[in-house]
Formats: sequence, C-alpha cells, structure tokens
Amino acid sequence: MKPPLVDVRELAIAFPAGNAVDGIDLHIEQGEAVGLVGESGCGKTLTALSLLGLVPEPGRVRAQRLRVAGCDLLAATERDLHQVRGGQVAMVFQDPVAALNPVIPVGHQVAEVLQLHGGMDRHSARREAIATLGRVGLSDPERQSRAYPSELSGGMCQRVVIAQALAGTPQLLVADEPTTALDVTIQKQILDLLAELRAETQLATLMISHDLNLVASHTERVLVMDQGLVVESAASEKLFTSPCHPYTSGLLDCLPSRHRPGERLTEIPAAPRRPQQRPSGCRFRERCPHAKERCTSEEPVLRELGKGHWGACHFPLDRESSS
Ligand SMILES: Nc1ncnc2c1ncn2[C@@H]1O[C@H](COP(=O)(O)OP(=O)(O)O)[C@@H](O)[C@H]1O
Ligand SMILES: [Mg+2]
Repeated sequence: MKPPLVDVRELAIAFPAGNAVDGIDLHIEQGEAVGLVGESGCGKTLTALSLLGLVPEPGRVRAQRLRVAGCDLLAATERDLHQVRGGQVAMVFQDPVAALNPVIPVGHQVAEVLQLHGGMDRHSARREAIATLGRVGLSDPERQSRAYPSELSGGMCQRVVIAQALAGTPQLLVADEPTTALDVTIQKQILDLLAELRAETQLATLMISHDLNLVASHTERVLVMDQGLVVESAASEKLFTSPCHPYTSGLLDCLPSRHRPGERLTEIPAAPRRPQQRPSGCRFRERCPHAKERCTSEEPVLRELGKGHWGACHFPLDRESSS
C-alpha cells in the first residue's frame, strides 16, 4: 500500500507562551480534498506552515512523524525543503495581491516558476504560463498575462496565484483562507476552480478556513480544530449534518445559511483562551453548554464514535437527532 501523501503524527508547535498546536494527526491521500476549520488562532496556519517547514521563529516543531510527499521534514535539509516548496507542495494564502510582485507582469511570475521548477527555457515557459492562466479561468490569457497585479481584480489575482502554484506541478495544494479576502460571489468561483483542478489532475488539497460551511461543501473530509487540538473529524457531509462535538455544532450554528432571515445568530460564547491560560480537563468546557463534572477533571481524547467519525468529547451529541 502506498503511504499517504501527508503523514503527520503527534505534531506539536511550541512558542514560549505555550503550545499553539498540541499533538495532532493529519493524513491526506493522493488526490484527496481535506478541510481544516476552526476559529481564528486555533492553529490552522501553523499546521499548514509545518508541512512546508515554514513555521516562524521562535516556534519549535516536534512530531512523531512529519512526512510530506515522501520527504521527512524532521530530517530535511534546506535543499530538500526548497524542493518541497513550490515543487511537491504549493501554498496559496489569503491575500493574493500581497503574494504577487507588484512590478512584474503576472505572466512572467508564472513563467518564472516554470523555469525554476519545471526546467523550461524562457520561450516554452512563457507559452506554458499563458496556457496555465487560461486553465485557471483568466479570459484572454495572452493579453492578461502582460497585466500587472494592480490592473487585475482580487479574484483574478487569486487565479494567478493558483496558476503559479500549479506551475510547479505539485501533488498537494495548501489553500489557507484562499477566499477570505474576496467577494462572496468570487469565493465560490475560486473554490469551484480548485475542485475542478483536483478532478483533472489528482491534486490533493488542504483547504483551510474559519468557515465550516464553505469548506464542507468543497472537501471530502474535514478536521475541526480548537485551541491547538483536533476535536472532531469526519466525512464532510457527516460532519455538516450530524456533528458530535459541541464546538463543531457551535460553529455550524454561527452560520447565517442555517438561519431564517431575521433570526438572531447564536455565537459560541467568549473567545478561545491563549495557550498559557487553558483550563484543566476539556479546553472547550467553559464555553460548552453541555459541560459536566467529568469535563473539568479529565481531558477527552479523540476516539472513533462511528465509522470514520472521530470526536474528542466525553458526552458526544446525539448525532442522529442533532442533524
Ligand atoms: N509568530 C508567532 N509567535 C508567537 N505565537 C504565535 C506566532 N504565530 C502564531 N502564534 C500563536 O499560535 C496560535 C495559532 O496561530 P495560527 O496558526 O496562525 O492560527 P489560525 O491560522 O488558526 O488563525 C495563535 O493564537 C498564537 O497564539
Ligand atoms: Mg490562519
């Protein structure tokens, strides 16, 4: 059996203030679309950065296993990491305009990657860059390839960034809040584009967002993070219709799409705590409407509650009736 494309066990990322990521497992198969969701500050971006060896100082990465596309990131040299980044693994960030160089036409920026990682000569790289810009939905790519980022909309710039990511023919695309800075109508177009590319090229994607609704409809499986831990993971549909963790249920209840117009949105009370202030037992208990004595004394571990449905809760919700 082939090893998974992403094989992460017991990943912890420590800062002087405490563990921002606190022992999570992550497995992604070739061609699989996995979502990572949770509120701001729960550790999504750091988890993504660890897959590229890009966790910033003074962050310390520890893991039992941290392998991506056959590369052991715990033992990798700078040279190995260089090959992984922009080669096997590409990352797309929230702000497409900031990701592009403002003084270079967008076509050149895609062509550069093709020359660097694809070993193409200038002429072929230019031709291939235009073709790639067409693939990601830029109309009249020949003309648009000569545009500067400031001449394109945010949605178009994000397409260019995705073209750049694809130019390295990656096996994994990590998209960290790729649509948060974009208009709602454009958000869906970009996610649809990522889904099409995945179907065409067997590209695995890790889609990161605070918006469970958005992610669940564009992935096969979702992991929900709270305060550095994965608290639930399941097939996207399952998680969306019958979450077992009160935190996930709270995230779903915050979604406007689940409410009738005029109805007040519920919110998960108070923000998650900083690492050094975490309470004993379950980290979510102080915000949990169902917390009991056991939740104070004992930290729940992730366990399989149904086939492929994992949750870290002592009192999982009744998954049939909660849908
Ligand atoms: N450069 C850093 N220095 C110190 N702490 C950091 C740094 N980056 C992130 N953190 C800590 O890690 C937590 C998780 O950060 P991050 O992965 O960016 O969260 P998310 O992407 O889910 O919003 C933050 O709440 C913060 O406490
Ligand atoms: Mg983030």
